Amino acid sequence: MDADHAHTREFFAARAESWDARFPNDAPAYAAAVADLGLRAGDTVLDAGCGTGRALPALREAVGPNGTVLGADLTPEMLTAAVHAGRDRSARLVVADVARLPLRDASLDAVFAAGLVSHLAEPRAGLRELARVVRPDGRLALFHPIGRAALAARQGRQITPDDLRAEPNLRPLLETSGWRLVSYTDEDTRFLALAVRRERSRSPHSMQTDCTGARHT
Ligand SMILES: C[S@@+](CC[C@H](N)C(=O)[O-])C[C@H]1O[C@@H](n2cnc3c(N)ncnc32)[C@H](O)[C@@H]1O
Repeated sequence: MDADHAHTREFFAARAESWDARFPNDAPAYAAAVADLGLRAGDTVLDAGCGTGRALPALREAVGPNGTVLGADLTPEMLTAAVHAGRDRSARLVVADVARLPLRDASLDAVFAAGLVSHLAEPRAGLRELARVVRPDGRLALFHPIGRAALAARQGRQITPDDLRAEPNLRPLLETSGWRLVSYTDEDTRFLALAVRRERSRSPHSMQTDCTGARHT
């Protein structure tokens, strides 16, 4: 594992047990963001960087019993907390780097990613990998339950123009990663960027294993 991933794991492992207690009132915001992703019954969706799985019940509700919900996270302790919270009843959980997913090309209808992109050492590589596993016209939601300015204030810092989630930075980042930004909201009570998968392109590191369990030809 590289130093960036080791640092990420160390950071979130120390916070995993208390994560949900720190943010007890966010469930309606997650449910609203999932609703905006436009999932249909039977869809296959990945929660990328799912952490303790706060979005997983809403994702399961959206795709129904015949859909597939996957949760992937780099930090095993976050997934352990998800299991303790019973969220493994909503999704199949896997320890994985979102930049190297054990999924086949175009095997997903959508990806939900809350609080993830700012933690990626190489955001373009991560977003490209998410594009690889989503079908053409599939969707991506980059979400945070509070906006950029409110988050910066909570963390005691200023937002700077080079913030990758600022629209002038995020739009070209998505464009060069296989996505088209279709809606952007950055308010105190929510950050939500919705994007659509543009065209299909082959990736050099498509993997053989498919944890959706879906059949592919
Ligand atoms: C701010 S937390 C958000 C967790 C959850 N999505 C939520 O909204 O509560 C970021 C999560 O992303 C995970 N993460 C960071 N880098 C990752 C990567 N390269 N691959 C997979 N997960 C990653 C962390 O382990 C952590 O659980």
